[in-house]
Amino acid sequence: MPSHIVVLGSLNMDFVVKVDHLPAPGETVLGAGFQMIPGGKGANQACAVGRLAGPGIVVRMVGRVGYDMFADHLKASLSAAGVDVAYVHATRAQPTGVALIWVDRNGQNSIVVASGANHVFPAADVEGLRGAFRGASYALFQLETPLPAVAAALKLAREEGVRTILDPAPALPLSRELLELVDVLTPNESEAALLLGRPGADGVSDPAETTRALRAMGVRSVILKLGARGCFYDDGEVQVHSPAFDVEAVDATAAGDTFNGALAVALAEGRSWDDSLRFANAAAGLSVTKLGAQASIPTREETECLLSK
Ligand code: RIB
Repeated sequence: MPSHIVVLGSLNMDFVVKVDHLPAPGETVLGAGFQMIPGGKGANQACAVGRLAGPGIVVRMVGRVGYDMFADHLKASLSAAGVDVAYVHATRAQPTGVALIWVDRNGQNSIVVASGANHVFPAADVEGLRGAFRGASYALFQLETPLPAVAAALKLAREEGVRTILDPAPALPLSRELLELVDVLTPNESEAALLLGRPGADGVSDPAETTRALRAMGVRSVILKLGARGCFYDDGEVQVHSPAFDVEAVDATAAGDTFNGALAVALAEGRSWDDSLRFANAAAGLSVTKLGAQASIPTREETECLLSK
């Protein structure tokens, strides 16, 4: 019986321009090589699951698009990665989401999202999705979908016995009630700082203390993403640092999404936490070596090849 993974989240068409440096307020910079690349945090995670999963795992995307050419392109990109898009519904109320992305010479980016159809997702629609969640092993969430819908879907997943992974990006303050529905929370350092109400990097400089403080807010386990330093896992019994792979950074866009998709695949396959974190770090590392979101997400073979070196 194949295992299945559900991803509820955003689909965006990314408009990507390479720049020497990210523009300061009021500054105009000349960019190069404009590209349109499928993205959106939810769709990127679904794409990662599709590319990284073995034949025993089915992945289903739940989201909203408009009636336009971007919607067709985004659904086609997911289908090509093996993702079931039957629960990606179109609305006439808004166009498909887009993201404007600048990537500098060090691979750092700056992103502005126009959510469009992604935000036409009332919490009342969630009950109708029970069939999409039933029988799933893991459900993945992010915060580019309205918070009431995410909260309702986390609750539904919990009722259906589905383990939940929430990437709290883009960062928002979250209630204890919502966090108690999360099995694995995967913030980066700035998201952790916002959740803890500790502005500035100093507030989260100790990973063990940071994950402990986040668990005290109600989540079962935390993976603190540390960028080029890897990640730190804490479930209250096990605390482990998993180092990143040494790669040449071209573009960090979707590295976190790739990490979450890979993590869900490895956990659904029954791998240990150590192995799952290594697999996720390897896939995320490879995604950083190429430009774009879904264009950069590696295959399972590419990831296993890096792991075997
Ligand atoms: O996490 C990267 C993604 O954030 C991009 O693909 C963009 O669409 C924004 O949602």
